[in-house]
Amino acid sequence: MPDPFRHYEGVPLLDLPADPPSPQVPTLAPDGAAFLSQLLFYSAAISASKRVPSTGAKYALRVNPSSGNLHPTEFHFITRGLNRWPDGLYHYRPSSHMAEQRARGDFKITSSDAPVVFVLTSIAWREAWKYRSRAYRYCLHDMGHAWQALVLAAHASGCESFAIGQFADDSLVEACRLNEDEWPMLLVELRGPSIPVRTPDGGETVWFGGRANSLSPEVIRYPAIDGIHAATKLTRLAETEPALAGSGEIPLPPPAASTRAFGDVVRARRSALDFRGGDLTMSQAQLSAILAASAQPFFADFARARLVQLYLYVHRVDGLKPGVYRHWQDGGLERIKSGDQRVAAAGLSLGQALAGNACVAFSMIADLDRAARVFGDRGYRYAHFEAGAVGHRLYLAAEAHGLGATGIGAFFDDQVHRYLEIAPEQGQVIYHFAIGYPVHDPRLDA
Ligand SMILES: Cc1cc2nc3c(=O)[nH]c(=O)nc-3n(C[C@H](O)[C@H](O)[C@H](O)COP(=O)(O)O)c2cc1C
Repeated sequence: MPDPFRHYEGVPLLDLPADPPSPQVPTLAPDGAAFLSQLLFYSAAISASKRVPSTGAKYALRVNPSSGNLHPTEFHFITRGLNRWPDGLYHYRPSSHMAEQRARGDFKITSSDAPVVFVLTSIAWREAWKYRSRAYRYCLHDMGHAWQALVLAAHASGCESFAIGQFADDSLVEACRLNEDEWPMLLVELRGPSIPVRTPDGGETVWFGGRANSLSPEVIRYPAIDGIHAATKLTRLAETEPALAGSGEIPLPPPAASTRAFGDVVRARRSALDFRGGDLTMSQAQLSAILAASAQPFFADFARARLVQLYLYVHRVDGLKPGVYRHWQDGGLERIKSGDQRVAAAGLSLGQALAGNACVAFSMIADLDRAARVFGDRGYRYAHFEAGAVGHRLYLAAEAHGLGATGIGAFFDDQVHRYLEIAPEQGQVIYHFAIGYPVHDPRLDA
């Protein structure tokens, strides 16, 4: 297993203050360090630990979820004119909640004047040693989760965000002198009156660079991963087509309200090991709130129209008959199958019981043809980012409403298409998900 923590060694390390205040009340953070600390503490930091029962060894869990807890995503960021924080290029070190200063001075990679721009990268090997060729998808899902984790924390502290997927990959690698195993996937610009700013430093860039730590003595190459990554590098800019419009015949009630604070929800979010089956049900108002959260707009150059549609395997939702339903963005559910779906949902999710014991499980179906028509091969990445981002909203909404959730990357693709009767031109399944009442996880510390 490759080291889940990347360090750029031999560069100045800047402390991010411990115990930043929770962002639910946007306050004018007095300085850049406090602002960055809060942002990262509520989006990417370590938030819990687990013990391996057989050996007692402890390992870290983070605010953002990750397939197999392998964390392929790295957070780099560029700051220009942050109060009491030197302009430059940084890499976040989650193992000690610190910022590695890789370059100091004026550093600009987008045309905007945003004071903070994140560069999110993926290290595919971290996933590939375990999941082999399928790992590329997991890297993209994880990127979608990390993107949402970051922007929701930013929004909670009063910032606006805009994600950019349309950039020239190789130029960005060069500009940020990324280690060869890190592939840039998304840029996220943050701006807004809650960011404490001053006039940018200007002047020349001083490079520290740093030596990237070796994550494992050996790396096995997966040609399918190198191939899809090369094929999805940017070739042309795109225009947007309208998304599939429609609504289901079954209206949903007004969403339930949650009073839990954002900071508490994100730090408490965990993936459920399994769910309590039996008679425990969730309400339609809870389901309505969770679906409404997933349907909130995304701010990105690739997300003006949605590519992903949710299919629900409803097991135990008050007042909704068990069955398969399609969720329409414009509102409502459309029933497409009736009857108990517990065995089907678990079976399709690679036999994982949690998809049957949940109150509701999901297949996310992406219109990959439209993604390719609009964005070229790059669209493959965007559909997965969107699925990860939807998944992240589902995680947080479930947690906020007293439920638990688990992202499910392992499922039988072709069987799902057959079961849901999805013709190739209608799309492909790209992610599964489950929400319900979590069982106790004995591996969690305290
Ligand atoms: C893209 C993705 C796919 C996942 N697939 C599965 C899965 O198939 N089965 C499962 O039990 N958990 C799955 N998980 C949950 C991870 O195992 C979990 O996020 C990780 O162990 C970290 O735990 P945490 O979410 O509590 O931080 C997935 C998570 C993500 C983000």
